[in-house]
Amino acid sequence: MVDVILGLQWGDEGKGKIVDYFAPKYDVVARFQGGPNAGHTLYVNGEKMVLHQIPSGIFHQNTINIIGNGVVLDPVTLKKECDKVAAMGIDVKKNLFISERTNIIVPTHRALDKASEMQKGESKIGSTLKGIGPAYMDKTGRNAIRVGDLLDKSFITQYIKLRLKHQKLLDNFNFIEDITAWEEEFFEALEFLRTLNVVNGEYFINKKISEGKKVLAEGAQGSMLDIDFGTFPFVTSSNTISAGVCTGLGVSPKQINEVLGVTKAYCTRVGSGPFPTELEDATGEELRKTGNEFGATTGRPRRCGWIDLVALRYACMINGVTQVVMTKADVLDAFEDLKVCTAYKIDGKEKQEVPFQMTRVQIEPVHKSFKGWNIDTTSITEAAKLPTQMSSYIDFINNYIGAPVKFVSNGPGREQIISL
Ligand code: GDP
Ligand code: IMO
Ligand code: MG
Repeated sequence: MVDVILGLQWGDEGKGKIVDYFAPKYDVVARFQGGPNAGHTLYVNGEKMVLHQIPSGIFHQNTINIIGNGVVLDPVTLKKECDKVAAMGIDVKKNLFISERTNIIVPTHRALDKASEMQKGESKIGSTLKGIGPAYMDKTGRNAIRVGDLLDKSFITQYIKLRLKHQKLLDNFNFIEDITAWEEEFFEALEFLRTLNVVNGEYFINKKISEGKKVLAEGAQGSMLDIDFGTFPFVTSSNTISAGVCTGLGVSPKQINEVLGVTKAYCTRVGSGPFPTELEDATGEELRKTGNEFGATTGRPRRCGWIDLVALRYACMINGVTQVVMTKADVLDAFEDLKVCTAYKIDGKEKQEVPFQMTRVQIEPVHKSFKGWNIDTTSITEAAKLPTQMSSYIDFINNYIGAPVKFVSNGPGREQIISL
């Protein structure tokens, strides 16, 4: 049996905290897509930790963590992260496992990401520059090096071949930065990677499932960044939705049980691309300040706006969401009035569907207003104590999106979550 936790917006919904909260109920936590573009924040004994490659179950001694085949893995980021986690008393050699089919991000992927973004100029994606796009392109282009290849003597030949191919592309981009230092740390990190548990991920995880163990699949990014269903081309390069769990871990769709979708009580986006409910005014600034909306991976300020129910309902549909977790509800505590977007006005017509493309059309959000609750909710622990205005806000969202909000997160701490 596999449950899933994934983002329903444009990423940074608070998945790390939610996975960390639920992890003790699971035997296995597995990342199924994305790479070090992810930044999942959690608090361990009051200490802040941001995970990019390692699944967010790592701080629970009895939980096994798997980096699945659908992930793209940067050995340098992984090594740094393992060092940090080890310093916090976690034995990664005991409870971290990596699929041999996981694709490796090489230094030239990062260089290509940078070169491609530079060439795009104004129309850049706003990528995290971690090499994600180029690494997935080499996967679908059937050129990639995978973790299992590290253990084979052909590895260095494969690397040189890929490096030469990339160099030609970099020359085309007129990319002249020296990446020798990146390559040195890459080869050093590969030595470390060779000491970790590399397994046949699909057999490993299916064996756990047949033994009755409970698996939690942890999504990265968010549904509106999905390569097929997101706001293309301003998306990431993987399937971030629940379907990605099957291809990213090698599990059957029949095994998928609960799909927990995480959404903020409002909305943010980092990087370029359409964002119909974006507020480029004082209210947007207040959301950013109150919500401390700065990227966990790049430190960039996140764009902020009201919750977009058109996009949220769409995300629930394509993921088959069974339960919604609403995070950062406390950020709305200080707002007198709140808004939710219930339709998009395009060419004078109101629509409740996400259009094929959102960049070439002018979308005006249609809002419904709510009275704010105006009390500090951060120390509330029971649903019955939540302000009635918050309950009305949540009821409206439940009805609109057709999936129930079952949990409300009211602060970044592990214990700040209320079951409804
Ligand atoms: P992820 O990528 O989905 O894991 O989310 P990030 O870690 O990038 O960003 C979420 C941010 O919000 C982090 O700084 C979390 O510590 C913080 N956070 C998570 N849940 C809550 C919450 O309910 N309230 C507040 N105020 N902060 C939260
Ligand atoms: P987590 O898992 C928010 C965004 C980037 C950019 C686009 C493509 O922390 O929620 P990429 O580096 O993937 O080629 O960038 O996707 N992006 C994210 N935004 N949270 C993330 O991950 C993201 N990962 C990528 O900002 O707009
Ligand atoms: Mg994040």
